[in-house]
Amino acid sequence: MASAPVKDIAVSILYDGESHEIQTYTNEYRSLMMLIYDKIYTEDFGECLGMGKCGTCLIEIISNCGGLSYYERNEDITLLRAGHTDKKFRLSCQILVDRHLDGLKVKVLT
Ligand code: FES
Repeated sequence: MASAPVKDIAVSILYDGESHEIQTYTNEYRSLMMLIYDKIYTEDFGECLGMGKCGTCLIEIISNCGGLSYYERNEDITLLRAGHTDKKFRLSCQILVDRHLDGLKVKVLT
């Protein structure tokens, strides 16, 4: 019998004035957006289900321990359209859940 994966990735998520400390493991979720959606009830979050088009999964990177792994689906154009040119603003649906997330602190902006 296989043992359960070790939750060795810690992510801190600020939402609506509260900090949520979440433990996960590589590929537990398809993206950071799915993790946030599942662990924290965030109204009107992730409306295009990860296509990088709606911008409702917007986050601000508060601190990051290293390079994030990501998809490249429409993120640049969606952020630009919303007026976000600073690299600290990201679409959480385009960020993969892997070891690079460990120590990440983000703020949900929607
Ligand atoms: S879920 Fe729509 S842009 Fe991320």
